[in-house]
Amino acid sequence: MFAEKLSSMLNRLLKPQPKYITVAARPDGAAPERMLPPDRMPAHVAIIMDGNGRWAQNRGLPRSAGHASGTEALRDIIRASDDWGIQALSLYAFSTENWARSKDEVNALMGLLLKYFNSEIDELDEKNVCIRILGDIDGLPEPQREAVERAMERTRDNTGLKLNIALNYGGHAELLRAAQRLARRVQAGEMQPEEITKEDFEAELYTAGLPPVDLLIRTSGEVRTSNFLPWQTAYAEMIFDPVLWPDYDRAHYLKNLREYAARDRRYGGVKGETCGENTEENS
Ligand code: FPP
Repeated sequence: MFAEKLSSMLNRLLKPQPKYITVAARPDGAAPERMLPPDRMPAHVAIIMDGNGRWAQNRGLPRSAGHASGTEALRDIIRASDDWGIQALSLYAFSTENWARSKDEVNALMGLLLKYFNSEIDELDEKNVCIRILGDIDGLPEPQREAVERAMERTRDNTGLKLNIALNYGGHAELLRAAQRLARRVQAGEMQPEEITKEDFEAELYTAGLPPVDLLIRTSGEVRTSNFLPWQTAYAEMIFDPVLWPDYDRAHYLKNLREYAARDRRYGGVKGETCGENTEENS
C-alpha cells in the first residue's frame, strides 16, 4: 500500500505536467487551439442554451429548425468538453416551464431528444462519457423516459466527462424535492433537523457527487439564470454571451473559458489573505 502510494507520488513528480492543455488536431485541419493552464480550467461548466427561436425567426424558419440547429451546437460543445478534459458539463435542455410552449414546439423538442439519445449513445459510451439526467424523468413521455433511462444505465460506470442534461428540470422544484427527502429521513428517525448539513442537502440534489458549478454560460444575451441550478451556481462565475445558441461553437466556448480563467475568484474572501491573517482592515 505504502509502496504503491510512493510510486504514484514519484510518477507525478517525475512526469512533466503540461503547461497548457492543447487540443488535438481539429477535424477541419486548423491548428490546435492553445488552451488554458490546467489549474485554470473550470471543473464544472453549466450552459443555458438560449436563442434557438430567435435564430430560426431571423431566417424565416419555424422554431423547431432553431432547436434542430441547436442540437448540432450541443453535439460540438459536448465533444469539445470531452476533448478539453472538462470534468462535468450540465446543459439546460428542457425546463418544467417549457411544457407551456405550443404543442408543435414541445413535440419537436421531444423528437430531437429521442433522436439525439438514439444516435449519439454509442459514441458517447465509447468516449467513456457518463450521462445523468437532472430533473423529473417520470414526467417525460414514455419513449423519452425509456431512452434516457437506457442511456444512464449504459453509461453509469463510465469515468470520463460527466454529461448532465437537465430535462423537465426546475431549480425550485429540485430544492423542494431535497427538503422533502430530508424531512422524510427526519420523520423516519434517521436524523435530527439540526443535524442536517450542507453535505446532506447536496446529497439529495440531482447533482449529488458532482463538483459545484464553476462557470455558468448563457447565450443569446439574456442576463438571468432562469431557475437553473440555483444551489450549485452559488459561487459560479457567469458569462452572458450575446451569440444565439445555434451559432455557438468551439471558438466561442474557448473565448468564454479564457475569460473565466482570467477572473479572480474570491468566494467572499479577500485576495492574498488566508483565514488566519487578521489585518487591521478585516479584523
Ligand atoms: C432556448 O431557446 C432553448 C430551449 C428551450 C431548448 C434547448 C434545446 C436544445 C438546444 C436541443 C435539444 C436538446 C437535446 C438534449 C437534444 P429558445 O427557444 O427559448 O430561444 P428564444 O429565446 O430565441 O425563443
